[in-house]
Amino acid sequence: MFLFSEKVDLFMDKLTLLYSRQAIAERVRALAEAINSDYADKELVLVGILRGTFVFLADLIRLIKVPVTVDFIGVSSYGLGTESSQQIALTKDVQIPVTGKHVLVVEDILDTGLTVDFVLRSLRQRQPASLRVCALIDKKERRLIDVPVDYVGFDLKSGFVAGYGIDCAERYRSLPDIYLVESVER
Ligand code: XMP
Ligand code: MG
Repeated sequence: MFLFSEKVDLFMDKLTLLYSRQAIAERVRALAEAINSDYADKELVLVGILRGTFVFLADLIRLIKVPVTVDFIGVSSYGLGTESSQQIALTKDVQIPVTGKHVLVVEDILDTGLTVDFVLRSLRQRQPASLRVCALIDKKERRLIDVPVDYVGFDLKSGFVAGYGIDCAERYRSLPDIYLVESVER
């Protein structure tokens, strides 16, 4: 019964290919090249925001040629209705000390900006040598708060996406490509 209802649920989402694995690989390579050149004589700490970044980060880090360490930070957002009233809380802090380090925050999707703004404020308190942001997808037209973003994979005007580590209600993280997800009424 459980399996059956899971299967029925799957058919409620319409998935349309947005970024193929080849297109993603091309953009990840370009991001890595820019990062390698900008941090040429430096040591880098990549901080991935859980959980949607784990696939992107795994691909990106294997193309990084400068000395690099990796850590993850977890945040949860909750609120009453509107996005702008969302409260964001730290659920998992980084374990690596970032004071005096060159830190690059890696995010899957930059949307309202509230999540990355929260993470940047938290990390900035520890006085890193530098602090930058890399987002695979930037929905910049939806920004509610101005956040600096230094490396962007794709610009997206609208739409909800999933795949390549990114979920829709925890589903589709395992898909190798990125899809636009629309809920279809049964
Ligand atoms: P903001 O910038 O609004 O982003 O604080 C909060 C989180 O929302 C997620 N997000 C999405 N997740 N498909 C998803 O699966 C989407 O289209 C989408 N847009 C935003 C994103 O993970 C970010 O951390
Ligand atoms: Mg996220």
